[in-house]
Amino acid sequence: MNSSDDDNEYKKLVMVLCHDLNNSIGIIKNSIKLIRKMGEHPHPKFPPTMDKIERAIDNVNELVTSIKDYEAIKNGKKEFELEDVPFDDIINHTMFMFQDKAEEKDIKLIFINEIPSETFLKIEPTSFKNSVISNLLSNAIKFTPRDKSIEIKGWVDGDQIMISVKDQGIGIPQELIDKLFNPNEKTTRDGTGGEKGTGFGMPLVKLYLNKFNGDIRVESKEKDKHPEDHGTTMVLNLPIVKE
Ligand SMILES: Nc1ncnc2c1ncn2[C@@H]1O[C@H](COP(=O)(O)OP(=O)(O)O)[C@@H](O)[C@H]1O
Ligand SMILES: [Mg+2]
Repeated sequence: MNSSDDDNEYKKLVMVLCHDLNNSIGIIKNSIKLIRKMGEHPHPKFPPTMDKIERAIDNVNELVTSIKDYEAIKNGKKEFELEDVPFDDIINHTMFMFQDKAEEKDIKLIFINEIPSETFLKIEPTSFKNSVISNLLSNAIKFTPRDKSIEIKGWVDGDQIMISVKDQGIGIPQELIDKLFNPNEKTTRDGTGGEKGTGFGMPLVKLYLNKFNGDIRVESKEKDKHPEDHGTTMVLNLPIVKE
């Protein structure tokens, strides 16, 4: 067997694994729900242990979903119907999805829309909201300490729509930035509140953006090197499509 056969074999294994894991994940999640309905166990460690199990299984679920999505997009099995979407739709959805999570960490979300109302994003809205923006924002919240703010901004630059997610978090070291979009590299770190990750988010974000004819770039100042002024800005560009 040559190395490409090896690769294919390995990929098949991963996909079978993901598929089979899905069933077990479903069973665990339903069982957690059922146990919660039974009421609280008197042992003081019961509630935090249940929370831990739930977080761990959500994490496994996220990983499996990301791998499946990544493979489906890469193999062209996932088709995209691009639509004209106003940036305000993205803002409203993001606010709805992340306001509570940000408030839990006393982080303020600031939205700025400078995109003219007659200019639309040409995207597949569900994946843009739930896989692109949501991953950027959950990272921003995860790596930002309490009491800071995160800015989500849209504007036009020449023939491109630009969207940035800017945080005042711990920043990303250059050697990690270099690996950020590679699904085969380990990039995941715990968040400032101990939040866990999979390291699959950013490769997926880039893959989606490329499918929407756009791209992403990273600007970051590490906290250790810039103690006064640190944070990460993810800058997306999407072409303005003339009808
Ligand atoms: N806004 C950010 N601030 C600091 N580090 C980040 C940020 N976004 C991404 N990273 C780094 O890149 C890693 C990979 O991100 P991602 O692919 O979304 O995976 P995950 O969030 O599951 O760890 C993160 O674990 C973190 O180390
Ligand atoms: Mg992430």
